[in-house]
Order: sequence, then C-alpha cells, then structure tokens
Amino acid sequence: MRETVILDKKFREMIPGNVISKRIDEMAESINRDFKNSDVVFLGILNGAFLFAAELFKRIDLKAQISFVKLASYEGTRTSGSIKELIGWNEDIKNKTVIIIEDIVDTGYTLERIAGELRIRKVAGFKVATLLFKPDSYKKKIPIDYIGFEIPNDFVVGFGLDYDGYGRNLPSVYTLIQ
Ligand code: IMP
Ligand code: MG
Repeated sequence: MRETVILDKKFREMIPGNVISKRIDEMAESINRDFKNSDVVFLGILNGAFLFAAELFKRIDLKAQISFVKLASYEGTRTSGSIKELIGWNEDIKNKTVIIIEDIVDTGYTLERIAGELRIRKVAGFKVATLLFKPDSYKKKIPIDYIGFEIPNDFVVGFGLDYDGYGRNLPSVYTLIQ
C-alpha cells in the first residue's frame, strides 16, 4: 500500500513500517544504555504516541514504569481560542526520572506544556523521545534527546498519527500528496 486515501486527502508512503521498527530497536538500545541501573518512568502523550510508546517500551530492558497523559482541548469561557489541559496524571512522578514519549514534535508547544507540568511535579529530570521531529518548525529550546526521524514540514499520518481522527492504524508513516 504505497498510497492511501483518508477522508478527502491522498497520502504517499514515506517511512515503511519495517524501517520504523529497526529505528525503534536502535532508539531502545540507546535508552537502555543511557539509563542502565536507573529507575525510570516513561510518559506517553495520548493519543498519537500510543503505538510508538508500546513499540518502544517492549524493547526496554530497565527497571521501568509507563504512564500516559492526554492533552485535552476545551473552549475557554472568555477567550475565543481553545485552551489545552493535561489530564490523566495518576503516577507519583516526584523525584523520578521521566522519559517523555511523543509521536511527533512539531512547533514544540505541546512539549513545553508537558515540561512545565513536570517541573511543577518536581521530577528529578526528564528526557524526550519522539518518533518524528520537524526541525524547521521547532521553535523551542528544550533538547530532543532521542529522535526517530527528522522530517520536512509536511503533514504526515500513520503509526499513531491522525488526520481528523483517522489513519492512526497505518503501519507506515505517510505524507500528504500536495
Ligand atoms: P506541537 O506543534 O509540537 O505542539 O505538536 C502538536 C501536535 O500536533 C502533535 O502532538 C501532533 O498531535 C500534531 N501534529 C503535528 N504535526 C503533525 C502531522 O504532520 N500530522 C499529524 N499530527 C501532527
Ligand atoms: Mg499528538
């Protein structure tokens, strides 16, 4: 399946599933090496990161926990723009080393919100692992420690990423055909 249609748009395969799988092997190897003998909490950001989080976590050979939070949008009562809130915290992460798992880091806005919450919750420190990274779009200073693939500033779907809620189940990453 080199091309696929989701709703009204056409997409072309950009990163095949087997290539993603090999890259996740390498990322897990690096994390296993870097965190040897430490106790870490992986924190997946829903919804998009669920698949990457699962694939990465099953390759982790550390004393590790995993938890998920979700960035939920709701309409502000006064402002016209939508406000986003992180919900679902249920693990005590105080003094823990956290590895944030993202599907994609684009502008970095989401990541900055999560980093702020982690500081409030007084974690010992955090690292960031993302399957995809758009360097030309990134506007923040937080270092991205583990990057699966750097991609151009185009819209992608698959491997957890969606277009209007669809396409998350695609086993490869697809890019929008302009
Ligand atoms: P941010 O701009 O780094 O805050 O990214 C915000 C969110 O936008 C990500 O977590 C994704 O859910 C979504 N996103 C960014 N780029 C894409 C894309 O190319 N396809 C699908 N979702 C995307
Ligand atoms: Mg997302």
